[in-house]
Amino acid sequence: DDVLSFAGKKFLITAGPTYENIDPVRFIGNHSSGKMGFEIAKKAAKKGAEVILISGPSSEKVDDKNITLHKVTSAQEMFDEVFKYYENVDIAIMSAAVADYTPKVKATEKIKKSENELTIELVKNKDILKTMGEQKSHQFLVGFALETQNEEENAKGKLIKKNLDMIILNSLRDEGAGFANSTNKIKIFTPTEEHSFDLKSKEEVANDILNFIEQKIVTK
Ligand code: PMT
Repeated sequence: DDVLSFAGKKFLITAGPTYENIDPVRFIGNHSSGKMGFEIAKKAAKKGAEVILISGPSSEKVDDKNITLHKVTSAQEMFDEVFKYYENVDIAIMSAAVADYTPKVKATEKIKKSENELTIELVKNKDILKTMGEQKSHQFLVGFALETQNEEENAKGKLIKKNLDMIILNSLRDEGAGFANSTNKIKIFTPTEEHSFDLKSKEEVANDILNFIEQKIVTK
């Protein structure tokens, strides 16, 4: 029984992995299922928000008139889609696991096996969230940080470097947190405070995140 606390607010949410094609049959990806981002989108919609959900390849589904789903594959496609809408939203939450690198050359035909070793040269992708931070005007900008070491230091570093209003840390060192699980354990940082949460279902985590944001935008 959600209160319509985000009625009239526009959200942009990203979810899932990106796939960076090597050739027509192979790609570089990661283990994101999209679940975390989809749960945030569903909760925001239940709280009355109008949600644009941009997702990489995921088997998650939504059926809510307040959510418009845009499917993308690569980091570049996600970048392009995000910037179609970013200017007109109130709150952006980037939970996608975006590839930092992509093959320099995408082979047009399937790469054949040979007797030799194979090296794939990777070039850097644009950082979507960092670019959003640079172009931020009125938006409340929220990032995620998935870490395996020096978690808090890295998360706080990303908060500052990417000009965010808030970052949500999940660590692969915590059992049941991060990828694919139906649960997550998070810690939220703003430039002035931090708050730890227990291990919960991703639906409950989404609720905690949105309640936290609601308090922040009231006082922003
Ligand atoms: O999808 P699930 O299986 O439910 O798993 C959820 C999750 C673990 C993927 C999610 O909770 C999460 O942590 N998402 C961010 C994962 C990640 O890529 O973190 P990062 O620390 O590498 O990136 C930091 C932030 O920058 C993220 O908000 C990311 O979306 C963004 N980024 C990163 C690289 C890039 N090129 N562009 C970006 O916008």
